[in-house]
Amino acid sequence: MFIENALRYDVQVNVLDPDPQCPCAQLASRFVQGRFDDLETVLRFAAGAEVVGIEIEHVSTEAMEQLEKQGKTVIPAASVLRTIQDKGLQKEFYRRHGIPSAPFALVESASSIANHAALLPAFLKTRTGGYDGKGVMPVDAAATAVPEGFKGPFVLEKRVAIAKELAVIAVRGADGTSVAYEPVEMVFNPALNLVDTLLAPARCDASIANEAKNLAIRVARAFGSPGIYAVEMFLTPEGELLVNETAPRAHNSGHHTIEACASSQYDQLLRAYMGWPAGDVRMHGMAAMVNLVGEGGTGTPHLAGAKEILRQSGTFIHLYGKHETRTGRKMGHVTVLAPTTAEVDRAVSAVKGHAKVVPASTLKTQSTQ
Ligand SMILES: Nc1ncnc2c1ncn2[C@@H]1O[C@H](COP(=O)(O)OP(=O)(O)O)[C@@H](O)[C@H]1O
Ligand SMILES: [Mg+2]
Repeated sequence: MFIENALRYDVQVNVLDPDPQCPCAQLASRFVQGRFDDLETVLRFAAGAEVVGIEIEHVSTEAMEQLEKQGKTVIPAASVLRTIQDKGLQKEFYRRHGIPSAPFALVESASSIANHAALLPAFLKTRTGGYDGKGVMPVDAAATAVPEGFKGPFVLEKRVAIAKELAVIAVRGADGTSVAYEPVEMVFNPALNLVDTLLAPARCDASIANEAKNLAIRVARAFGSPGIYAVEMFLTPEGELLVNETAPRAHNSGHHTIEACASSQYDQLLRAYMGWPAGDVRMHGMAAMVNLVGEGGTGTPHLAGAKEILRQSGTFIHLYGKHETRTGRKMGHVTVLAPTTAEVDRAVSAVKGHAKVVPASTLKTQSTQ
Protein backbone atom coordinates (compact mmCIF):
# COMPACT_ATOMS: atom_id res chain seq x y z
CA MET A 1 0.00 0.00 0.00
CA PHE A 2 2.94 2.30 0.68
CA ILE A 3 4.56 1.46 -2.64
CA GLU A 4 1.30 1.92 -4.58
CA ASN A 5 1.27 5.54 -3.45
CA ALA A 6 5.02 6.12 -3.80
CA LEU A 7 4.85 5.05 -7.46
CA ARG A 8 2.77 8.18 -8.21
CA TYR A 9 5.76 10.31 -7.32
CA ASP A 10 8.30 8.14 -9.08
CA VAL A 11 10.06 7.43 -5.80
CA GLN A 12 12.18 4.31 -5.72
CA VAL A 13 11.32 1.94 -2.85
CA ASN A 14 13.58 -0.94 -1.85
CA VAL A 15 12.31 -3.60 0.53
CA LEU A 16 13.96 -5.95 3.03
CA ASP A 17 11.81 -8.83 4.28
CA PRO A 18 12.55 -12.35 5.50
CA ASP A 19 9.83 -13.84 3.29
CA PRO A 20 10.75 -14.00 -0.42
CA GLN A 21 7.04 -14.34 -1.20
CA CYS A 22 6.00 -11.28 0.82
CA PRO A 23 3.36 -9.19 -0.99
CA CYS A 24 5.60 -6.20 -1.69
CA ALA A 25 8.46 -8.24 -3.17
CA GLN A 26 6.99 -7.91 -6.65
CA LEU A 27 6.30 -4.19 -6.33
CA ALA A 28 9.62 -3.05 -4.90
CA SER A 29 12.29 -1.50 -7.14
CA ARG A 30 14.68 -3.84 -5.40
CA PHE A 31 13.75 -6.67 -3.06
CA VAL A 32 16.24 -8.18 -0.64
CA GLN A 33 15.44 -11.25 1.37
CA GLY A 34 16.82 -11.05 4.89
CA ARG A 35 16.12 -10.45 8.55
CA PHE A 36 15.33 -6.89 9.55
CA ASP A 37 16.34 -7.69 13.15
CA ASP A 38 19.88 -8.51 12.04
CA LEU A 39 22.37 -5.64 12.32
CA GLU A 40 24.65 -6.57 9.42
CA THR A 41 21.77 -7.45 7.07
CA VAL A 42 20.06 -4.11 7.66
CA LEU A 43 23.30 -2.13 7.26
CA ARG A 44 24.12 -3.89 4.00
CA PHE A 45 20.57 -3.45 2.70
CA ALA A 46 20.40 0.26 3.54
CA ALA A 47 23.92 1.15 2.34
CA GLY A 48 22.70 2.91 -0.79
CA ALA A 49 19.48 4.38 0.64
CA GLU A 50 18.85 8.02 1.51
CA VAL A 51 15.90 7.37 3.82
CA VAL A 52 15.17 4.31 5.96
CA GLY A 53 11.72 3.51 7.35
CA ILE A 54 9.92 0.57 8.91
CA GLU A 55 6.59 -1.24 8.69
CA ILE A 56 7.07 -3.28 11.85
CA GLU A 57 8.77 -2.33 15.13
CA HIS A 58 10.76 -5.51 15.61
CA VAL A 59 13.81 -4.35 13.67
CA SER A 60 17.42 -3.92 14.74
CA THR A 61 17.50 -0.58 16.55
CA GLU A 62 21.29 -0.80 16.63
CA ALA A 63 21.28 -0.81 12.83
CA MET A 64 18.92 2.18 12.78
CA GLU A 65 21.25 4.06 15.16
CA GLN A 66 24.26 3.38 12.97
CA LEU A 67 22.35 4.49 9.88
CA GLU A 68 21.50 7.73 11.69
CA LYS A 69 25.18 8.21 12.47
CA GLN A 70 25.95 7.74 8.78
CA GLY A 71 23.75 10.77 8.14
CA LYS A 72 20.75 8.96 6.67
CA THR A 73 17.21 10.04 7.46
CA VAL A 74 15.76 7.33 9.74
CA ILE A 75 12.01 7.49 10.41
CA PRO A 76 10.98 6.96 13.13
CA ALA A 77 14.22 7.81 14.95
CA ALA A 78 16.04 4.84 16.47
CA SER A 79 15.40 6.25 19.96
CA VAL A 80 11.63 6.22 19.31
CA LEU A 81 11.82 2.60 18.19
CA ARG A 82 13.77 1.64 21.29
CA THR A 83 11.09 3.11 23.53
CA ILE A 84 8.16 1.67 21.62
CA GLN A 85 9.61 -1.83 21.17
CA ASP A 86 9.41 -2.25 24.93
CA LYS A 87 5.95 -1.75 26.44
CA GLY A 88 7.58 -1.07 29.81
CA LEU A 89 9.73 1.79 28.47
CA GLN A 90 6.71 3.02 26.53
CA LYS A 91 4.56 3.22 29.67
CA GLU A 92 7.35 5.03 31.53
CA PHE A 93 7.66 7.44 28.61
CA TYR A 94 3.95 8.37 28.88
CA ARG A 95 4.31 8.90 32.62
CA ARG A 96 7.40 11.06 32.15
CA HIS A 97 5.64 13.22 29.56
CA GLY A 98 2.39 13.59 31.51
CA ILE A 99 0.42 11.60 28.94
CA PRO A 100 -2.56 9.90 30.58
CA SER A 101 -2.32 6.11 30.54
CA ALA A 102 -3.57 3.26 32.77
CA PRO A 103 -1.70 2.72 36.08
CA PHE A 104 0.97 0.03 35.86
CA ALA A 105 3.97 -1.66 37.41
CA LEU A 106 6.93 -3.40 35.80
CA VAL A 107 7.35 -6.98 37.03
CA GLU A 108 9.93 -9.64 36.21
CA SER A 109 7.59 -12.58 36.56
CA ALA A 110 3.99 -13.52 37.34
CA SER A 111 5.00 -14.37 40.93
CA SER A 112 5.38 -10.61 41.61
CA ILE A 113 1.73 -9.87 40.85
CA ALA A 114 0.92 -10.28 44.55
CA ASN A 115 3.09 -7.24 45.33
CA HIS A 116 0.79 -5.06 43.24
CA ALA A 117 -2.66 -6.17 44.40
CA ALA A 118 -3.99 -2.62 43.99
CA LEU A 119 -3.65 -3.01 40.21
CA LEU A 120 -5.97 -6.02 40.09
CA PRO A 121 -7.93 -6.92 38.03
CA ALA A 122 -5.23 -6.25 35.46
CA PHE A 123 -3.61 -7.18 32.19
CA LEU A 124 -0.23 -8.83 32.10
CA LYS A 125 1.68 -7.82 28.97
CA THR A 126 5.00 -9.12 27.73
CA ARG A 127 7.29 -6.11 27.41
CA THR A 128 8.63 -7.11 23.99
CA GLY A 129 7.49 -9.04 20.95
CA GLY A 130 3.69 -8.92 21.42
CA TYR A 131 1.18 -7.87 18.74
CA ASP A 132 -2.51 -8.41 17.89
CA GLY A 133 -3.31 -9.52 21.45
CA LYS A 134 -0.53 -12.12 21.51
CA GLY A 135 1.45 -11.27 24.62
CA VAL A 136 -1.52 -9.85 26.53
CA MET A 137 -3.30 -11.81 29.25
CA PRO A 138 -6.08 -10.85 31.66
CA VAL A 139 -5.21 -11.40 35.33
CA ASP A 140 -7.93 -11.51 37.97
CA ALA A 141 -6.09 -12.81 41.02
CA ALA A 142 -2.58 -12.60 42.43
CA ALA A 143 -2.08 -16.35 42.06
CA THR A 144 -2.36 -16.66 38.30
CA ALA A 145 -0.86 -19.47 36.26
CA VAL A 146 0.86 -18.14 33.18
CA PRO A 147 1.01 -20.39 30.11
CA GLU A 148 4.37 -21.78 29.06
CA GLY A 149 6.11 -19.50 26.61
CA PHE A 150 4.46 -16.41 28.10
CA LYS A 151 7.68 -14.97 29.44
CA GLY A 152 8.57 -11.89 31.46
CA PRO A 153 9.57 -9.21 32.04
CA PHE A 154 6.04 -7.87 31.98
CA VAL A 155 3.98 -4.74 32.32
CA LEU A 156 1.21 -5.32 34.85
CA GLU A 157 -1.48 -2.84 33.92
CA LYS A 158 -4.65 -2.00 35.77
CA ARG A 159 -7.74 -3.07 33.81
CA VAL A 160 -9.72 0.03 32.96
CA ALA A 161 -13.38 0.26 32.03
CA ILE A 162 -13.62 0.91 28.31
CA ALA A 163 -16.59 2.57 26.61
CA LYS A 164 -14.83 2.63 23.25
CA GLU A 165 -11.37 1.98 21.88
CA LEU A 166 -10.23 4.82 19.67
CA ALA A 167 -7.16 5.35 17.52
CA VAL A 168 -5.79 8.57 16.12
CA ILE A 169 -3.05 8.81 13.54
CA ALA A 170 -0.93 11.86 14.13
CA VAL A 171 1.41 13.06 11.43
CA ARG A 172 4.61 14.87 12.33
CA GLY A 173 6.15 16.61 9.36
CA ALA A 174 9.84 17.06 8.72
CA ASP A 175 9.39 20.75 9.63
CA GLY A 176 8.01 19.85 13.09
CA THR A 177 4.37 20.67 12.38
CA SER A 178 1.82 18.07 13.51
CA VAL A 179 -1.68 17.25 12.30
CA ALA A 180 -4.08 14.46 13.22
CA TYR A 181 -6.73 12.50 11.36
CA GLU A 182 -10.21 12.17 12.79
CA PRO A 183 -10.29 9.51 15.52
CA VAL A 184 -11.49 6.09 14.48
CA GLU A 185 -13.40 3.62 16.59
CA MET A 186 -12.07 0.08 16.78
CA VAL A 187 -14.55 -2.74 17.18
CA PHE A 188 -12.81 -5.92 18.33
CA ASN A 189 -13.54 -9.54 17.58
CA PRO A 190 -13.41 -10.94 21.13
CA ALA A 191 -12.50 -14.47 20.01
CA LEU A 192 -9.48 -13.40 17.96
CA ASN A 193 -8.62 -10.22 19.94
CA LEU A 194 -8.25 -8.52 16.54
CA VAL A 195 -9.90 -5.38 15.26
CA ASP A 196 -12.89 -6.57 13.32
CA THR A 197 -14.35 -3.32 12.06
CA LEU A 198 -13.22 0.26 12.26
CA LEU A 199 -15.57 3.22 12.07
CA ALA A 200 -14.30 6.57 10.83
CA PRO A 201 -14.88 9.03 12.26
CA ALA A 202 -15.43 7.49 15.72
CA ARG A 203 -18.98 7.96 16.97
CA CYS A 204 -18.35 10.22 19.91
CA ASP A 205 -18.89 13.84 20.93
CA ALA A 206 -16.97 16.45 18.98
CA SER A 207 -15.27 17.54 22.21
CA ILE A 208 -13.92 14.03 22.77
CA ALA A 209 -12.81 13.77 19.14
CA ASN A 210 -10.89 17.04 19.52
CA GLU A 211 -9.36 15.95 22.78
CA ALA A 212 -8.29 12.65 21.17
CA LYS A 213 -6.65 14.49 18.27
CA ASN A 214 -4.83 16.84 20.66
CA LEU A 215 -3.66 13.92 22.75
CA ALA A 216 -2.28 12.12 19.67
CA ILE A 217 -0.46 15.29 18.62
CA ARG A 218 1.02 15.56 22.12
CA VAL A 219 2.25 11.98 21.83
CA ALA A 220 3.81 12.69 18.42
CA ARG A 221 5.48 15.85 19.80
CA ALA A 222 6.80 13.96 22.80
CA PHE A 223 8.39 11.36 20.53
CA GLY A 224 9.65 14.21 18.39
CA SER A 225 10.79 12.34 15.30
CA PRO A 226 9.02 13.03 11.99
CA GLY A 227 6.71 10.29 10.76
CA ILE A 228 3.28 8.94 11.62
CA TYR A 229 2.09 7.77 15.01
CA ALA A 230 -0.97 5.55 15.42
CA VAL A 231 -2.04 6.27 18.98
CA GLU A 232 -4.43 3.69 20.46
CA MET A 233 -6.62 5.05 23.24
CA PHE A 234 -9.27 3.92 25.68
CA LEU A 235 -12.30 6.14 26.19
CA THR A 236 -13.63 5.40 29.67
CA PRO A 237 -17.35 5.55 30.54
CA GLU A 238 -16.54 8.83 32.38
CA GLY A 239 -15.26 10.37 29.13
CA GLU A 240 -11.60 10.19 30.05
CA LEU A 241 -9.00 9.34 27.39
CA LEU A 242 -6.07 7.07 28.24
CA VAL A 243 -3.29 6.22 25.81
CA ASN A 244 -2.92 2.45 25.43
CA GLU A 245 -0.01 2.16 23.03
CA THR A 246 1.50 3.81 19.99
CA ALA A 247 2.72 2.38 16.70
CA PRO A 248 5.27 4.69 15.00
CA ARG A 249 4.32 3.55 11.51
CA ALA A 250 1.47 2.92 9.08
CA HIS A 251 -1.26 1.12 10.99
CA ASN A 252 -4.41 -0.93 10.49
CA SER A 253 -6.43 1.93 11.97
CA GLY A 254 -5.43 4.15 9.03
CA HIS A 255 -6.23 1.89 6.09
CA HIS A 256 -9.47 3.72 5.37
CA THR A 257 -7.46 6.92 4.71
CA ILE A 258 -6.49 5.51 1.29
CA GLU A 259 -9.98 6.16 -0.07
CA ALA A 260 -11.56 8.29 2.65
CA CYS A 261 -9.03 11.13 2.92
CA ALA A 262 -7.29 13.53 0.62
CA SER A 263 -3.89 12.28 1.75
CA SER A 264 -3.57 8.70 3.00
CA GLN A 265 -1.41 7.54 5.91
CA TYR A 266 0.99 6.12 3.30
CA ASP A 267 1.15 9.45 1.52
CA GLN A 268 1.90 11.20 4.83
CA LEU A 269 4.66 8.75 5.60
CA LEU A 270 6.24 9.32 2.20
CA ARG A 271 5.99 13.09 2.66
CA ALA A 272 7.75 12.76 6.02
CA TYR A 273 10.46 10.57 4.47
CA MET A 274 11.02 13.06 1.66
CA GLY A 275 10.88 16.18 3.80
CA TRP A 276 7.74 17.35 1.98
CA PRO A 277 4.86 19.23 3.70
CA ALA A 278 2.26 17.10 5.51
CA GLY A 279 -0.88 16.30 3.48
CA ASP A 280 -4.56 17.10 3.99
CA VAL A 281 -6.13 14.83 6.64
CA ARG A 282 -9.76 15.77 5.96
CA MET A 283 -12.27 13.01 5.19
CA HIS A 284 -14.49 12.93 2.10
CA GLY A 285 -17.41 11.44 4.06
CA MET A 286 -18.16 8.62 6.49
CA ALA A 287 -16.09 5.48 6.26
CA ALA A 288 -15.59 2.06 7.76
CA MET A 289 -12.99 -0.63 7.33
CA VAL A 290 -13.64 -4.35 7.72
CA ASN A 291 -10.58 -6.53 8.22
CA LEU A 292 -10.57 -9.68 6.13
CA VAL A 293 -9.28 -12.30 8.52
CA GLY A 294 -8.58 -15.87 7.40
CA GLU A 295 -11.18 -18.50 8.32
CA GLY A 296 -11.44 -22.27 7.93
CA GLY A 297 -7.77 -23.24 8.18
CA THR A 298 -4.60 -23.03 6.14
CA GLY A 299 -4.20 -22.91 2.37
CA THR A 300 -4.16 -20.76 -0.74
CA PRO A 301 -6.40 -17.76 -0.02
CA HIS A 302 -9.69 -17.27 -1.80
CA LEU A 303 -12.00 -14.32 -1.20
CA ALA A 304 -15.57 -15.59 -1.19
CA GLY A 305 -18.29 -13.00 -1.74
CA ALA A 306 -16.14 -10.62 -3.81
CA LYS A 307 -18.88 -10.10 -6.40
CA GLU A 308 -21.47 -9.20 -3.78
CA ILE A 309 -19.08 -6.66 -2.26
CA LEU A 310 -18.17 -5.11 -5.60
CA ARG A 311 -21.86 -4.72 -6.46
CA GLN A 312 -22.15 -2.17 -3.62
CA SER A 313 -21.09 1.33 -4.50
CA GLY A 314 -18.43 2.84 -2.29
CA THR A 315 -16.71 -0.42 -1.38
CA PHE A 316 -13.03 -1.04 -2.02
CA ILE A 317 -11.40 -4.46 -1.72
CA HIS A 318 -7.76 -4.76 -0.66
CA LEU A 319 -6.24 -8.22 -0.71
CA TYR A 320 -2.66 -8.15 0.47
CA GLY A 321 -1.40 -10.94 -1.76
CA LYS A 322 -0.18 -13.15 1.10
CA HIS A 323 0.44 -16.63 -0.30
CA GLU A 324 -1.11 -18.52 2.58
CA THR A 325 -4.29 -17.93 4.58
CA ARG A 326 -4.51 -19.11 8.19
CA THR A 327 -7.35 -18.85 10.68
CA GLY A 328 -7.01 -15.46 12.36
CA ARG A 329 -4.43 -14.07 9.90
CA LYS A 330 -5.09 -10.61 8.42
CA MET A 331 -5.41 -11.19 4.69
CA GLY A 332 -6.85 -7.89 3.52
CA HIS A 333 -9.54 -5.37 4.22
CA VAL A 334 -12.58 -3.75 2.67
CA THR A 335 -13.14 -0.02 2.96
CA VAL A 336 -16.65 1.36 2.81
CA LEU A 337 -17.43 5.00 1.98
CA ALA A 338 -20.92 6.46 2.35
CA PRO A 339 -22.53 9.82 3.01
CA THR A 340 -24.32 8.78 6.23
CA THR A 341 -23.61 6.51 9.20
CA ALA A 342 -26.76 4.49 8.46
CA GLU A 343 -25.48 3.73 4.97
CA VAL A 344 -22.03 2.89 6.34
CA ASP A 345 -23.62 0.45 8.79
CA ARG A 346 -25.68 -1.20 6.06
CA ALA A 347 -22.64 -1.63 3.83
CA VAL A 348 -20.57 -3.01 6.73
CA SER A 349 -23.22 -5.66 7.48
CA ALA A 350 -23.32 -6.59 3.82
CA VAL A 351 -19.53 -6.91 3.64
CA LYS A 352 -19.45 -8.97 6.84
CA GLY A 353 -22.26 -11.16 5.59
CA HIS A 354 -20.54 -11.99 2.30
CA ALA A 355 -16.78 -11.57 2.57
CA LYS A 356 -14.73 -14.51 3.78
CA VAL A 357 -11.13 -15.41 3.11
CA VAL A 358 -10.94 -19.20 3.12
CA PRO A 359 -8.49 -21.81 1.81
CA ALA A 360 -9.30 -22.42 -1.86
CA SER A 361 -9.37 -26.18 -1.15
CA THR A 362 -12.30 -25.95 1.31
CA LEU A 363 -14.24 -24.07 -1.31
CA LYS A 364 -14.04 -26.95 -3.78
CA THR A 365 -15.20 -29.43 -1.16
CA GLN A 366 -18.18 -27.26 -0.35
CA SER A 367 -19.24 -26.84 -3.95
CA THR A 368 -19.19 -30.59 -4.63
CA GLN A 369 -21.36 -31.32 -1.59
N1 LIG B 1 -5.37 -1.75 30.80
C1 LIG B 1 -6.31 -2.30 30.04
N2 LIG B 1 -7.61 -2.26 30.41
C2 LIG B 1 -8.57 -2.80 29.65
N3 LIG B 1 -8.35 -3.43 28.47
C3 LIG B 1 -7.08 -3.51 28.02
C4 LIG B 1 -6.00 -2.94 28.79
N4 LIG B 1 -4.86 -3.17 28.10
C5 LIG B 1 -5.20 -3.85 26.98
N5 LIG B 1 -6.53 -4.07 26.93
C6 LIG B 1 -7.25 -4.77 25.85
O1 LIG B 1 -6.37 -5.67 25.17
C7 LIG B 1 -6.14 -5.23 23.81
C8 LIG B 1 -4.72 -5.53 23.40
O2 LIG B 1 -3.80 -4.85 24.24
P1 LIG B 1 -2.58 -4.07 23.65
O3 LIG B 1 -1.74 -3.60 24.78
O4 LIG B 1 -3.06 -3.04 22.70
O5 LIG B 1 -1.77 -5.23 22.91
P2 LIG B 1 -1.36 -5.49 21.39
O6 LIG B 1 0.07 -5.04 21.32
O7 LIG B 1 -1.51 -6.96 21.23
O8 LIG B 1 -2.27 -4.67 20.52
C9 LIG B 1 -6.52 -3.76 23.82
O9 LIG B 1 -6.85 -3.29 22.53
C10 LIG B 1 -7.70 -3.76 24.80
O10 LIG B 1 -8.87 -4.28 24.19
MG1 LIG C 1 -2.88 -2.75 20.62
